Amino acid sequence: MEDKHIPESALASLSRRDIIKGVIAAGAVSSAGYLFRASMVRAASSAAGSVERLITLNVNGQQRRVDVMKQETLAMTLRYKLGLTGTKIGCDRSECGACTVLIDDVPHYSCSVLTHTARGKNIVTIEGLAAADGKLHPVQQGVVEEQGFQCAFCMPGFIMATVGFLKVNPNPTRAELAHGISGNLCRCQDYDKILTAMMRGAEILRSA
Ligand code: FES
Ligand code: FES
Repeated sequence: MEDKHIPESALASLSRRDIIKGVIAAGAVSSAGYLFRASMVRAASSAAGSVERLITLNVNGQQRRVDVMKQETLAMTLRYKLGLTGTKIGCDRSECGACTVLIDDVPHYSCSVLTHTARGKNIVTIEGLAAADGKLHPVQQGVVEEQGFQCAFCMPGFIMATVGFLKVNPNPTRAELAHGISGNLCRCQDYDKILTAMMRGAEILRSA
């Protein structure tokens, strides 16, 4: 890393909001920019001219008013403005599926969806799956029963992809489901257990 030494005075002059805006503005430039303080500082300064617009999103059944920039991705909005951190950002460029959410019941990589294009659509994140009384969604229950994940960073994305797939094919074979969620990657390579958990979730869903 070229920039390990950031003067404390420079950091102190940036509010958390400035930094987040900068990271969002940097968007696809860095695959993990939000993890590195120096990148965040650079991004914040590049965001000086960014303009936000207040829009309304339907997220998990709630109308959420939020200021967004025109180049802002849904993943950034969900995580850093709406506090829905269950949606993960892995690659930030449509490769890993960690950021998968449902938009009008169809799985999407939220890192590659501009937030303003999701206006008027129903967005569901991992936080919106459980029932109001806390009862887990069948696919989540399948994960609990089968202990399908190792570190579980990829888990929300896999669950959302599976929930979306089961809406069009509620009774898949193992091979069909594997193909259906093949846009999601697991860095722990826990695929066999994940698939078992997802198949168990499908089974619970059918019997619900
Ligand atoms: S973070 Fe969106 S596909 Fe990887
Ligand atoms: S369980 Fe670790 S990335 Fe999938």
